[in-house]
Amino acid sequence: MLEQLKEIERTALAALEAVQDEAALETWRVAYLGRSSPLMQVFSKLGALAKEERPVVGQAANEVKKALEAAFGSRSEMLRQAALARALSEERLDVTLPGRPIARGRLHPDTQILRELYRVFAEMGFQVYRSREVESDEYNFQLLNFPVGHPARDMQDTYFIEAEGRGDNPIVLRTHTSPGQIRAMREMAALNPQNPPPVRIILPGMVYRYEQVDARHETQFDQLEGLAVGPGITFSDLKGTLTDMARRLFGPQARTRFRASFFPFTEPSAEFDIECFQCGGKGCDVCGSGWLEIGGSGMVHPVVLQNGGYDPARYTGFAFGFGVQRIAMLKYGIPDIRYFWENDLRFLEQF
Ligand code: DAH
Repeated sequence: MLEQLKEIERTALAALEAVQDEAALETWRVAYLGRSSPLMQVFSKLGALAKEERPVVGQAANEVKKALEAAFGSRSEMLRQAALARALSEERLDVTLPGRPIARGRLHPDTQILRELYRVFAEMGFQVYRSREVESDEYNFQLLNFPVGHPARDMQDTYFIEAEGRGDNPIVLRTHTSPGQIRAMREMAALNPQNPPPVRIILPGMVYRYEQVDARHETQFDQLEGLAVGPGITFSDLKGTLTDMARRLFGPQARTRFRASFFPFTEPSAEFDIECFQCGGKGCDVCGSGWLEIGGSGMVHPVVLQNGGYDPARYTGFAFGFGVQRIAMLKYGIPDIRYFWENDLRFLEQF
């Protein structure tokens, strides 16, 4: 009898090992713990045993019953856990994964570089002056010493908006931020026409040109113009200001270089370059020659001062202008200007 109980326990536990789902578990329970199971038959035969055998076999049968019930319980729990894990994995839900970060908005790289430039120039005492994007030919060209028909106009292919009945003064999209120089000077001079106050401003904004679009040219882009007018302003003030700008933008070792050039509204005029931050002047992929061409500059032409209401006998000034995207491209190593306005998140999210 005791042998038989051992055998019942062994086969029951072995059979339980093979149970993989709730239905099989129920079948197992009926077979090994149910009313007509071999174990229950042992209990029902107890009465027929000899008196001294009865408690021994009875106790052994009880222990087997407890063992099978415990095994049933833990198997049942194991199956429940496995079923839960399966359900979770089928849902692709892993509750232990960290949450997804909420995507936050960010500033366009253009806005970021503009704000950095505002900060750099604010530290040097320049205020921001905002001028209009739709201009007249007079402000965009004539008052800046580009007379009608002047060949220097060919430097900037112009979008004309309205020419009908306007003769030599059509409406244009500004091709550069320089017309803002005249508007700012006139506004300042109007405050005190006999003694116009000094001017120290930067003029940021979009400019428009009828260009063939490629990696370096867009039909619209940002310029940053600078203008300082006052008694006794010299070319060395211009050089100092732009060199300081380069150091604040690219680090204290940045050097600048000025090359003689021509613009109708400055005399003398110079293009200015910044030593390449990438290679330190040796020449590399970013710069080619070791120097980065940044923009134009010069001493404000007497005719322009006059047109702005400042007497060129008493006032001098310097001006400069450069492409904002150019600075951003150099600073961040952006190879193509078209990325700025394609609105591709793969580009924008890098800033
Ligand atoms: N307006 C010029 C351009 O768009 C850039 C420029 C050159 C601006 C020299 C200036 C300057 O103020 O002094 O090509």
